[in-house]
Order: sequence, then structure tokens, then C-alpha cells
Amino acid sequence: MDNREILVDIKNLRTFFYTEDGVVPAVDGIDLTIHRGEVVGLVGESGCGKSVTALSIMRLIANPPGKIVGGEIFFHGEDLLKKSDDQMRLIRGDKISMIFQEPMTSLNPVYTIGDQISEAITLHQKIDSAEAKKRTIDMLHLVGIPEPERRFSQYPHEMSGGMRQRVMIAMALSCNPELLISDEATTALDVTIQAQILDLMRGLQKKLGMAVLIITHNLAVVAEMAETINIAYAGKIVESATAKEIFKSPRHDQRAIASHRGHGPVPLSHAQRLPF
Ligand SMILES: Nc1ncnc2c1ncn2[C@@H]1O[C@H](COP(=O)(O)OP(=O)(O)OP(=O)(O)O)[C@@H](O)[C@H]1O
Ligand SMILES: [Mg+2]
Repeated sequence: MDNREILVDIKNLRTFFYTEDGVVPAVDGIDLTIHRGEVVGLVGESGCGKSVTALSIMRLIANPPGKIVGGEIFFHGEDLLKKSDDQMRLIRGDKISMIFQEPMTSLNPVYTIGDQISEAITLHQKIDSAEAKKRTIDMLHLVGIPEPERRFSQYPHEMSGGMRQRVMIAMALSCNPELLISDEATTALDVTIQAQILDLMRGLQKKLGMAVLIITHNLAVVAEMAETINIAYAGKIVESATAKEIFKSPRHDQRAIASHRGHGPVPLSHAQRLPF
């Protein structure tokens, strides 16, 4: 029996897009559970609904064209879908924060990274700007940015891709969230930097005890990080098991998932080697 406290419980989530070409059932009945402090993976081919699931949890689906048409997203037992916009604003970036797939879309090019992180901190905590600056520099240090005092006053374009990603992580962690959603946080980076950032996230997760929903194409990434792995296909979870079960058990091994290259269903053991 699983006695751990449930932090997030998504039940039969359905998020559709109403486009000129018709209705796109991007998320079509997703169930997903995350316990307090647990690292949970969400993997699947491109377009299967991973980002839309994450944005639904954050209640950041643009309407129109999108709409959450059904289901429940319980957070600490309360349905986020029943919260007002104001209530959601307080939860976002405080109890739940997200690292987006595209770092440049979530960093503002006209503000220094220091100002952006400080602002994220002061938005939710009543502290003065000197204290916010100090905490920001601590955060930059924590995510492994060298010379954080100097970097504080740099703009996003003055940083490398890996560094911008670290800034994103610093910003997401600055409020000490209970849940961090990481949507392909490392995919755009080269393999060495990717490994460094994943190590960093794993270290911080352990240190801070937060739950992480890690979204990626790469089964190898979640196999290393996640306790539970959910595999999505066409807006549904088709498999949910521990990393060990997914990789060891013949039943799970034979379970087929499709590759986006259109080769049709492939056994998971082969899919491991596919970058999706
Ligand atoms: N704003 C939108 N308007 C119309 N359709 C959308 C919109 N956003 C997403 N979709 C559709 O919803 C489906 C799921 O998209 P989603 O971004 O969740 O995929 P994903 O699993 O994150 O893929 P990737 O691995 O490429 O990031 C796709 O078919 C996509 O085309
Ligand atoms: Mg995505």
C-alpha cells in the first residue's frame, strides 16, 4: 500500500483546442498522480499532449482556442479547475512553478536576469529589494552560475543557452515550490550541459524536497530521475509504472508505443534508443 501523501491528483483531464480545422483533443482523459516530494516522469512522442497537460495544471491554456473541458486537477485535495484567476495567480510561481520548453519566451529580453528573479521573489514574499537581491544571488549561486554578483546585472542575450536554462531553474525555484514542472528543460542543450543541468535538478530536488513533474522525449532522462514514469500517447496515459518496472518487466517491455517517425508502434525496449 502506498502511504505517501498525494500532492497532485489529475483525474480524467480533457483539454481541447477549437481550431478552424476542427476540434483537437490534445489531452483526452489523462490521469496522473504525484506524491509529495516525488519525481514523476511524463514521456511520449511529439504532440501527444505533454505540454498541454503541464499548461492545464498551471491553468495557462489560452482560451480561445483552448479550453479545459473536463476532469479535475486536485492539488492538496483542492480542485485547481475550481479556483478563480486571482487564486491561481497566488498558487503559480509560489506553490507550483514551471520551467518552460522555450527559455527565451519566458525570460524578458529587456530586463536583467537579476531583476527578473528578484521580481519573482518579491511577488510572493514581503521582503525589501536588498533582501531580494541577496536571495537572487544565492539562487544563482545554487544553480551553478559563476560570479553571480556580476551575472545579476546581465541581460538574457548575454548568456549562453545553458546559463539561461539555469536562470530559468533559479527563477522557478526562487519561491521554494512544492511542485516544479519541468517541460523539456534540457532538450535544446548539448548533451554535456544537459547532463549537468539534470544533475543539478536532481540535487536540488533532494535538497529542497519538492515534487517534480519532468516532461521529456527522452526515456533515458526520466529513467534516471523519475520514480514513476507515465507514458502518454494521443492525449492519454497508456502506461504508468516505476522506472524499474518499465525497463525490467517483460509485460511493460512488450507494451508498444509509437515513434513519431511514423514507423508505427515499437516495443519500449527499442523506444529507449529513439530520441522520439
Ligand atoms: N494553441 C493550440 N492550438 C491548436 N492546437 C494546439 C495548440 N497547442 C497545442 N495544440 C495541439 O495539441 C496537441 C498536443 O500538443 P502539446 O504541445 O501538448 O504536445 P507535446 O506532447 O508537448 O509535444 P512536444 O514533445 O513536441 O513538445 C498537438 O496536437 C498540438 O498540435
Ligand atoms: Mg511540449
